[in-house]
Amino acid sequence: MLKIAHRGAKAYEPENTLQAFQKALDLNSDGIELDVHLSSDGHIIVIHDETIDRTTNGKGLVNDFILAELKSFLIDGKYQIPTLNEVFDLVDKRCLINIELKGLGTPSKVVQLIEEYISEKNWNYDHFIISSFDWDMLEETSNLNSNISIGVLTEENIDTALAFAEKIKAKAIHPDFNLLNEENVQQIQEKGFQVLPWTVNSKEDIQKVKSYKVDGIISDNPDKI
Ligand code: G3P
Ligand code: CA
Repeated sequence: MLKIAHRGAKAYEPENTLQAFQKALDLNSDGIELDVHLSSDGHIIVIHDETIDRTTNGKGLVNDFILAELKSFLIDGKYQIPTLNEVFDLVDKRCLINIELKGLGTPSKVVQLIEEYISEKNWNYDHFIISSFDWDMLEETSNLNSNISIGVLTEENIDTALAFAEKIKAKAIHPDFNLLNEENVQQIQEKGFQVLPWTVNSKEDIQKVKSYKVDGIISDNPDKI
């Protein structure tokens, strides 16, 4: 049962910051989940929304700014928006990294960075899993490098996600936990896929999905798992 910290340990530190990922490590999480977009100069930026409005003191689209400009905006008045490289360096192979592709152009950049860390820094494919609600991006990722593990995100339909997972030879289904029951978890696992539901935060919900024998849980408070 993998304990995966959603956007870092989001219940305790501002989401998608190095502090949130450090907190996830401190809580002995097996993995962290994060979201990525590109800056206008092609850096992979770890942020959930396509704009910086909600989480920083700035305004505008992430991909309208160069990295140096994005670094000048602050989260909670003190933290900077991290790049994916910075998160990899902080984690340093200590847990699984679930990279959720959100922004246009992220598949090729993320695949390139993963390949760089594997060939030059002694990481391996088990350190990463890529997910997305944008299944075209998942197909692109799989075509670029079929060794990279893929999790198919769905908030709508398990059967459609399963069919797509079979098509691209994904490793896991990442469903909204409300879609799950004991039967469909078993059905997904019998087809050879892991089940990693999100975002399971309350004790009751955690207990419920645990009883379905899922392979891991993505949670804002991984310590409760
Ligand atoms: O990866 C699961 C979860 O993060 C998907 O939703 O909106 O938090 O990115 P969201
Ligand atoms: Ca996410």
